[in-house]
Amino acid sequence: MTRTSATRIAVRASGGRDYEVVIGSGLLDHVGVEAREAAPGVRHWVVIADHTVDELYGDRVSRSFGASDVSVRRLTFPAGERHKTRDTWASLTDRLLDLAVGRDGGIVALGGGVAGDLAGFVAATYMRGIPVVQVPTSIVAMVDSAVGGKTGVDTPLGKNLVGAFHAPARVVVDPATVETLPRAQRSEGLAEAAKHGAIIDDGYAREIRLHAGALLDGRPSVVEPVVRRSIEIKAEVVSQDEREGGLREVLNFGHTLGHAFEAASDYRLPHGHAVAVGMVCEARLGESLGLTAPGTADELRTLLEALELPVAPPAGWDPASVLGFVQADKKVRDGKARVVLLECMGRVAPAAPGWAHPVAPNVMRELLDSA
Ligand SMILES: NC(=O)c1ccc[n+]([C@@H]2O[C@H](COP(=O)([O-])OP(=O)(O)OC[C@H]3O[C@@H](n4cnc5c(N)ncnc54)[C@H](O)[C@@H]3O)[C@@H](O)[C@H]2O)c1
Ligand SMILES: [Zn+2]
Repeated sequence: MTRTSATRIAVRASGGRDYEVVIGSGLLDHVGVEAREAAPGVRHWVVIADHTVDELYGDRVSRSFGASDVSVRRLTFPAGERHKTRDTWASLTDRLLDLAVGRDGGIVALGGGVAGDLAGFVAATYMRGIPVVQVPTSIVAMVDSAVGGKTGVDTPLGKNLVGAFHAPARVVVDPATVETLPRAQRSEGLAEAAKHGAIIDDGYAREIRLHAGALLDGRPSVVEPVVRRSIEIKAEVVSQDEREGGLREVLNFGHTLGHAFEAASDYRLPHGHAVAVGMVCEARLGESLGLTAPGTADELRTLLEALELPVAPPAGWDPASVLGFVQADKKVRDGKARVVLLECMGRVAPAAPGWAHPVAPNVMRELLDSA
């Protein structure tokens, strides 16, 4: 492909660190050109990926730098959330030091959200911060984690507890990589895309539902416009509110309950599944409070079912334990959980102030008991 057929979206970030997201099938062969243009001072590029993604795409990405005057090396780590740790961060950092990468180094974070968060955090901290180019290859990473600048690792006490904001120099998205992504991973990523439709764009939600089959099959011609629309939405939201004091809060739709379901399952429930169930429950909550148009929860349910996502809590779940995690959330104020609620599909119900509505524990308990 020529680079001109790619879509470019501008994202505003603090400290004048605005960056571009470039989206187009075949862009994997242009990562080098994009990276060098975005961070011309970098002499030593290091591509960090998990073993699976490195095997699939590491060669293409490192070859995309061509026979140029910059060096390109590859570092890998074992795939999976359980490797998104301080230990893996330390090991990658030590290997960069062994390679004698200095302040003129740069990182290419190639892969799913784990590689993006982990390699992004390495870049945020190495030599007090070197440029990172995000190259997401999962739908989760494309529509969610690669844009916004959040990086970090998990600890035994919880997910993403140690991290930093580190805006990428550029984000290069090649939707064709979704072809090799397992179907279950596609489905999970589409939960976040459905969320974007639910909070901001009803037409987009309908589009996703219409093309659910082809999206789950990973057909590039259908994946590309969806990834593009989701990135537009996320870019618009984080450009207005990088650090989550205001509008960024709307992205938490489905996540107050979603996170609680996830934690109560001891993280056996995949995040995308937890968010799908969370969105349906939060829509029902909004309906019962008279803030969400009747029928919205059903509409969401139909959309999520088309994406092969669960719409009810897993068998054997315990409402009391879920409520415990809801109440333990760091966003709880005066004993009340804060929940983003829809007005209808495509629109969030404004709260005063902000976007999250305080919900008392007894109301939450009633909702959970009937779920
Ligand atoms: N920073 C943020 O704002 C943000 C937002 C959402 C999620 N996240 C993080 O993202 C992570 C989840 O992301 P994920 O679901 O992409 O997980 P992941 O990175 O583990 O990828 C899932 C699996 O798919 C494989 N894979 C990725 N791309 C592939 C491809 N094109 N072909 C074949 N296999 C491929 C990976 O090797 C892995 O086994 C979590 O750690 C979460 O906390 C961060
Ligand atoms: Zn999420």
